[in-house]
Formats: sequence, structure tokens, C-alpha cells
Amino acid sequence: MMLSEESLKKIDKELTKYPEESFRSAIMSALTIAQQEKKWLSPDVIEFVADYIGIPPVQAYEVATFYNMYDLKPVGKYKLQVCTNLPCALQGGVNTAEYLKKKLGIELGETTSDGKFTLIEGECLGACGDAPVLLLNNHKMCSFMTEGAIDKMLAELN
Ligand code: FES
Repeated sequence: MMLSEESLKKIDKELTKYPEESFRSAIMSALTIAQQEKKWLSPDVIEFVADYIGIPPVQAYEVATFYNMYDLKPVGKYKLQVCTNLPCALQGGVNTAEYLKKKLGIELGETTSDGKFTLIEGECLGACGDAPVLLLNNHKMCSFMTEGAIDKMLAELN
């Protein structure tokens, strides 16, 4: 089985929220559950999830490739998604990305050689008032990421 019983149970629970003819509406949750277990979404996993909820694989690929919370290749232990859209950029978001690139020794879209950090550029995270922001591991919003705040965050990530 491609996914654990535990993950399948979680997906089953998501499916109970929709009538059978609308199971495709559960694709985002199902992909998220699969990614939580596998750490990233390989083509095999995406196709398995599509098959499991009964939709054509192409529909699952459309979702998986549209949202950057889905990882289509292995990522580091810590995935840092830096917002560089205009409101953040005006508050130093571009500098935030540049500073992280320098500190980690990688470019946007890359992972450090020790597998610890992946740095990606993100679209507006809906927290422009806290600019510049970044999202840690798809869940934790980090606000006002000045150079000092970045240093502190990196020191806390083991
Ligand atoms: S522009 Fe960065 S959070 Fe909105």
C-alpha cells in the first residue's frame, strides 16, 4: 500500500464531508495528508491519491502543481517560503530572500547539502501587514522577518 492505514483513514474521513459525486473536492486535503506522510508528492503518490478518491490523475496533478504548498520533489527538514510580492517587497521582502540565500548558501528553489533547509519564493501569504513574512513548513507564519529575526529563527531550528 502506498500510504499508511492512518493516512488512508484520514482521507476516508475527508471523503465523508462530500457526496460521492463530489469526492474530487477532497483532493487538496488528500494530497496534504499524503504529503504529511511522505514528505513530498512523487508522481506515484499523486496517482495513488487520485485513484483512491476516484478521480483522473490529471485532476490531481492540476491541483498539486498549482499550489506551492505541495512539494513535487524532496525538500529539506525546514521549508522556508519567502513572500516577495509587492507589499512584502516594499517592506524588505526582497532583502529577506537575499539574506536567506546568503546565510544558507543556496539559491531560491534549492536545498542545503545537509538536507536541512529548502528556500523557495512564495506568493502573497495574506499577512501583508506583518511584512516581510515567510512561511515555515507550510504552516507557521513568521512575521517581520528582518535580518535579526532571521538570525534568531535559524538559530532555533535544529
Ligand atoms: S505580499 Fe507578502 S504577505 Fe502579502
